[in-house]
Amino acid sequence: MNPSYVLEASHLLNERIGQKASLGIILGSGLGAFVDYLQNKKEIPYSQIPHFPMSSVSGHKGQFVFGKMGNIPVYVLQGRIHYYEGHPLEDVTFPVRVLKQLGATTLIVTNAAGSINRSYKAGELMLIKDHINLLGTNPLRGKNWEEWGPRFPDLTEAYDEALRKKAKAVAKKIKVQLREGIYVAVPGPSYETPAEVKMLKTLGADAVGMSTVPEVIVANHQGMKVCGISCLTNYAAYTGAHKLGHEEVLKVTQNASKKFGLFLKEFIIMIT
Ligand code: HPA
Repeated sequence: MNPSYVLEASHLLNERIGQKASLGIILGSGLGAFVDYLQNKKEIPYSQIPHFPMSSVSGHKGQFVFGKMGNIPVYVLQGRIHYYEGHPLEDVTFPVRVLKQLGATTLIVTNAAGSINRSYKAGELMLIKDHINLLGTNPLRGKNWEEWGPRFPDLTEAYDEALRKKAKAVAKKIKVQLREGIYVAVPGPSYETPAEVKMLKTLGADAVGMSTVPEVIVANHQGMKVCGISCLTNYAAYTGAHKLGHEEVLKVTQNASKKFGLFLKEFIIMIT
């Protein structure tokens, strides 16, 4: 990834937005409705931003949004780019580089995930405590740009503890059930087999998904504070009467989107 690409993208966004935010949010599958909570929005399609990769997945709109939650400015990525779409991880994480260049110091990442911990049910939210990277690769592979961060970044607290405490306090306040657990990232796009889910459980994972981990690694590389929240949409490797599909994942996230939006709103107020 050439740093000048990041500068070109952030230059265009700065010109179009004309205001700054210190918080960036990545919205996962079906969770894009959160932007309805924002006022004075500026929406810039990814296709108009130099070097920005495009998302081809339904449920991912593909636009960069700036807006205000009350008087708190935020950058929102409405739609993410996935490894399984064929993009290299440096493209998948390009938006996170741009967010940092724009001035964001905190990143909230959200996603839809399958539950491995059978006491965590579809429709519930899970705060990510830590992750396991099973993508078989790493977004920092290749040349390290020292101006971005160290060659060998520490990930012992990839998900900021203070932010996690605040997330739990907010959930308690608004009476939303917030689980906590380990997220494992797999390449996808096929869902897991029952044998794989058994393996992931043995590894210590509570939820499985096909995103988030690359963005979190890059955010940490750049010294950003990260908070991750999964919307659990199904039991991984569901063995019930029907087959698991993306439509089900979208339906569950859409049903949870009001609760999710309310949680995010209160959380943003608390951390800024
Ligand atoms: N597995 C992987 N990714 C997912 C799942 C799942 O069961 N549900 C939503 N995203």
